[in-house]
Amino acid sequence: MKDLLFPEPPAAAEIERLDQVLSERQSAWWDAFYARREGRQVPFFGRAPDESLAAWVEAGDIQPGPALDLGCGNGRNTVYLAQAGFAAEGVDYANEAIAWAGQRAREAGLPSLPLTACSVFDLQRPLGHYALVCDSGCFHHLPPHRRALYRDQLLAWLRPGGVLALCCFRPEGGSGLSDDEVYERGTLGGGLGYDEDQLRGFWGATFDIECLRPMRAQAPGSALFGAECLWVMRARKPQV
Ligand SMILES: C[S@@+](CC[C@H](N)C(=O)[O-])C[C@H]1O[C@@H](n2cnc3c(N)ncnc32)[C@H](O)[C@@H]1O
Repeated sequence: MKDLLFPEPPAAAEIERLDQVLSERQSAWWDAFYARREGRQVPFFGRAPDESLAAWVEAGDIQPGPALDLGCGNGRNTVYLAQAGFAAEGVDYANEAIAWAGQRAREAGLPSLPLTACSVFDLQRPLGHYALVCDSGCFHHLPPHRRALYRDQLLAWLRPGGVLALCCFRPEGGSGLSDDEVYERGTLGGGLGYDEDQLRGFWGATFDIECLRPMRAQAPGSALFGAECLWVMRARKPQV
């Protein structure tokens, strides 16, 4: 296991400097990615929610309440959560993703599903409010120097006892780059893979990790989404 850089957020000036080093995959990149969606077989372009999210909701491990889906893409998990009784909202910094999520929401009979085009780092939301924060595939695209900032913000948005449902690359799903290599090369190489110790060390510093396992692959045409190259994690904000 390689140590992750930045266990705590660096100073604001350092964050700004490192943002310039890793500027290749921003909202414009994702806009272009979602604009070319016709006929492409991208696993997360479907409508199915994550198998883990659905399992935890159905088992009562996550109780309905206000829910924030960060990096929501086409809204497949946001729509699922709204249908499951959550006051769900989706956020993504790609306008094309938010437009697509709006279309999916209308098709699902949820025309007023709140969807916001905004970076997770610029988002203003009430603190201690959410029963659930969902991140499926956003965290592994965040640069190392912004990870701890993100973790602290998620913790602040959640109410005590609230849940983080995370889905991110396992080592074999990501680029294989270490944090040091990311800065040497100036790229995340398409997304970072994490090993179990790294995730437990990083998220377990402030959350109670209740479940961390490989995602369960799903058969083609399944009503659920699952791919083995991903981890799923359910972590709870401590009560005190
Ligand atoms: C792999 S896609 C996953 C989309 C969706 N959650 C799903 O599983 O279908 C990652 C998403 O994160 C979004 N994203 C990445 N960095 C972000 C940021 N800083 N703020 C908001 N959205 C971000 C991208 O625009 C993209 O839609």
